[in-house]
Amino acid sequence: MAVELKNDRFLRALRREPTDTTPLWVMRQAGRYLPEYRATRERAGSFMALAQAPELACEVTLQPLARFDLDAAILFSDILTIPDAMGLGLTFAQGEGPQFDRPVRSAADVARLAVPDMDGELRYVMDAVRLIRRELDGRVPLIGFSGSPWTLACYMVEGHGSKDFARVKAMGWNEPALMHQLLSVIEKSVTAYLIAQAEAGAQALMVFDTWGGLLGPKAFGEFSLRYMAGVVDALKVHAASRDLPVILFSKGANGHFEALADTGCTALGVDWTADIGEVRRRVGGRVALQGNLDPSVLRATPEIVEREAKAVLDAFGNHPGHVFNLGHGITPEVDPENVKVLVDTVHAHGRTIRGS
Ligand code: CP3
Repeated sequence: MAVELKNDRFLRALRREPTDTTPLWVMRQAGRYLPEYRATRERAGSFMALAQAPELACEVTLQPLARFDLDAAILFSDILTIPDAMGLGLTFAQGEGPQFDRPVRSAADVARLAVPDMDGELRYVMDAVRLIRRELDGRVPLIGFSGSPWTLACYMVEGHGSKDFARVKAMGWNEPALMHQLLSVIEKSVTAYLIAQAEAGAQALMVFDTWGGLLGPKAFGEFSLRYMAGVVDALKVHAASRDLPVILFSKGANGHFEALADTGCTALGVDWTADIGEVRRRVGGRVALQGNLDPSVLRATPEIVEREAKAVLDAFGNHPGHVFNLGHGITPEVDPENVKVLVDTVHAHGRTIRGS
């Protein structure tokens, strides 16, 4: 199926082809900082009910695009849909993080896990992708996503969010074989999940390795990188996904850009603690970069948003291969007006940099 896109800046930048200006989207662009999102979530009853109703998920996916001139849409869902479908019992208590009723703690717990059925428990995700593609009607590309095997293991073993995820790290030290058995079944699930999203119509795929930065260099290679590399390899051989760009985002893993680029992915996410110009000099010949404005800048004045967004664009410079984004998700207190300032600044200054 030929894909007719009215705005393909995002896909071109990922392929490191020239663009008229720098494309951007915002991690968590459909979220609580938007009053219309809060209204739809209210109607749904809960975050999970919202994510599991394809029509409502489609509605909130499109909300930020109605307000801002963004260059990509991202499926409204969550990384924890996979462990939920594996039977761990996910809930989000209002104002608190995720919670699993049945965390994975023992060899028996790991042995019970199986790859979920993409046409069964996770069908609602694929239905949402199909519906969003139809409603987008080629305006901008749709990003599908998954958590990384390591990051999903963090939540599955811990059972909830944590500052240091000490329990899953202890499993890595004490029971490495069990840890690898767990990561293997998650890797297979993530691969099947991303391929199913590609088949349903996702046009780029992103892997969120939010907790990769918690690991030391050797453990990062063993528990995080290795499994993301396995996912990238599998995506490259499957007919539905082999032509799709793959973005890997290991938050807090600034020492690992070269190794991440070696996986053969298309682009790397960069959090705000790195100088994106320096990262470009390290790996920009091999991958595109996505980032990296500090999300807290959006809580400052519009003048500061403008100045800091320009600084990120200037640091990357006049080179192909930059997708502007925040260095992590947008937070609920942000004034949507500042997002408008950000989008307009990035497009205008991106043009200036390119002299177009
Ligand atoms: O970017 C987008 O707009 C797409 C939607 C999206 C959500 N979660 C919606 C969401 C994406 C891409 C995610 C990914 C996700 N989910 C990650 C990786 C990215 C990251 O932020 O590091 C992680 C670690 C999760 C797990 C998760 N989901 C947590 C820890 C929480 C609670 C913390 C919080 O921000 O409230 C969620 C809930 C969640 N996922 C919300 C949204 C909009 C807020 C829930 C609500 O509306 O009440």
